[in-house]
Parts: sequence; structure tokens; C-alpha cells
Amino acid sequence: MVKAVVAGAAGGIGQPLSLLLKLCPLVDELALYDVVPATVGVATDLSHISTTAKVTSYLPKDDGGKAAMKDADIIVIPAGIPRKPGMTRDDLFKINAGIVKGLIEIAAEVAPKAFILVISNPVNSTVPIAAETLKAKGVFDPKKLFGVTTLDIVRAETFVAELTGTKTGSDLTIPVVGGHSGDTILPLFSKASPKVNIPDDKYDALVKRVQFGGDEVVKAKEQGGGGSATLSMAFAGYRFAEKVLKAVKGEKGLVEPSYVYLPGVPGGDAIKQATGLDFFSVPVELGPNGVESVTNPLTDLTDKEKGLLEVCLKDLKGNIEKGVTFATTPAEK
Ligand code: 2OP
Repeated sequence: MVKAVVAGAAGGIGQPLSLLLKLCPLVDELALYDVVPATVGVATDLSHISTTAKVTSYLPKDDGGKAAMKDADIIVIPAGIPRKPGMTRDDLFKINAGIVKGLIEIAAEVAPKAFILVISNPVNSTVPIAAETLKAKGVFDPKKLFGVTTLDIVRAETFVAELTGTKTGSDLTIPVVGGHSGDTILPLFSKASPKVNIPDDKYDALVKRVQFGGDEVVKAKEQGGGGSATLSMAFAGYRFAEKVLKAVKGEKGLVEPSYVYLPGVPGGDAIKQATGLDFFSVPVELGPNGVESVTNPLTDLTDKEKGLLEVCLKDLKGNIEKGVTFATTPAEK
């Protein structure tokens, strides 16, 4: 029995993500949780789809959060508010930090062994918040906490394929590491497999497009009422969740970059030393218990990549500190 939970299920990311999880044969029970009443309708709608997963829905009343997450195997969290034009992911901190902390507190209590996948922005800070909250509750397993950065990888794959005329959906793998926001997103085209040739005059624009791909969506959606990436984000969140679920079932060789707590994962110490940071998105090999090992992506970088890394580290440091401070400072009474 695999129980999956989507926390923030009625939102722009939550709905398509819930649909994808409903289609996944690896999920037996899909619990949808959100603060808005629409959650009930979303669940009923999905429940008519003739796939295996049984769909249930919960609202905050009657301790619905606890009922939703009770004994969950995997909890995916897209809850929170999205960006509006002109906003950075960091601008969301004030509202989403508290939302994530509250959800993690519930998870710590009723599903301490669950894999937790954080999508809520700013991921660079919300994952440190989640880690500190789990630590405070005495149930932090760094091998099971992930910040989902897959959309950056998905974008890199798509944009490079466009540029090189390769078919999208092919075997192209491009590590994108660091954080999940603007300059902290570090695409490593030199480590693409199979090798790709990015013309020099196209390199800077390609890096910027990967780093600020989210803004492209925010701007395009301005005309239709606003919002940030929801469908591509749901795809990316699902792609990572599916890998986690497959690894639990024993599939080997599943590797994808994810934003993890370096001191707590095998192989993380060397990267912590190289970056001076506790959190960094790195290629993670997944196993039945979560992170099996991580590989250091920062060796043999090109000069351009070294330059990008320097900027990434500076910004990311502040983002991480902000999350840790929020989670460890007692709330004002
Ligand atoms: C993105 O557009 C929503 O953070 C997400 O990258």
C-alpha cells in the first residue's frame, strides 16, 4: 500500500500534480489536502478516473491535515501563493514560510517516515525551514527530504534540445544544480550526456533562459489573470515523485538532481566543504530509503561555470540563512 499526499492539492500546481499521481500505478491511495473547499470537488472529479488509486480529500477542519497525512509514504507540498509579475520567489517568503512550517509540523507528527518533496517557493529557504522543523520534532531524516528542482532540469533539457535541433524527450541529461531561483540555478552544460555543443555566442542567453525560465511563464500568464508555472511544475514534481516511488520498489540507477541537506546524505560532506553550504541541489541517486548517495557536480567546471558558481553560492547562502532563522526563531506572542 502506497499512500501519497498532495498538500495544496486544489491550487494551480496541486490539481495537475494530483491528476498525474492519480494516473500512477505505483500509488494506491491519494489524499488531497488544501485549505480551500474546492479540494472536495477536485477529489470527486479525480475519483471518477478508472485507475487504481483511491482518492480522498481533507480540509483543515476536524484535524483534516492530520487525517490526510496519517501514515503517508510520500508527501508532496506545492501549497502556498504563486508569484505575480515583478515578484521574485523570495518575495513569497513571508506567506509560504509559515504555510510550509505548519504542514511539516503535521507531517512530523503523523507521518515521520514519509518522503517529503517541497515545491513551495522559495525552495531555497522553505527546505531549510522543513529541515529545522523536522529536527525540532526529532524526526529529521535528511535522506527523505527533497527540494524539487526538477523543473530547472526539464527547462534545460527542452531549451538545449531546441537550440541543437535534438528531439525533446530524448535521452539528453543535463545536470542543473545549486538552488531553485534566478542566479542560484546553475546549469552545467559541460556535463550534459550525451555531450552537447553550445555555441559561444548563445551560451549566456541559454544560461539566463534556464535561470529565469519561471519569469517567462509569469510574464506570459500576465495576460490571463496571472500566475506562475503550474503545468510544467506539476510535470516536474511528478517526474521526481515517480522516481522516488520507483526507487522504493527497488528500481536501480535512478538519478536526478534535488536540493538536499548535505551533512546528512552520503557523499554530501565533500560538497558542503566545496560550497560552504548545508543545502545544495546535487545529483542524487535514489534507493528504497531515499538518498542513497550524492555526487559532487562541482569538479572540472569550465571557467564560465566557475563564475556562475560564485554568484550562486553568495545568493544561496542568504536564502538558506533566512529559512533557518525563520524556523529557529520563536514566534512572537
Ligand atoms: C518555476 O517556475 C514555479 O518555481 C517554479 O520555476
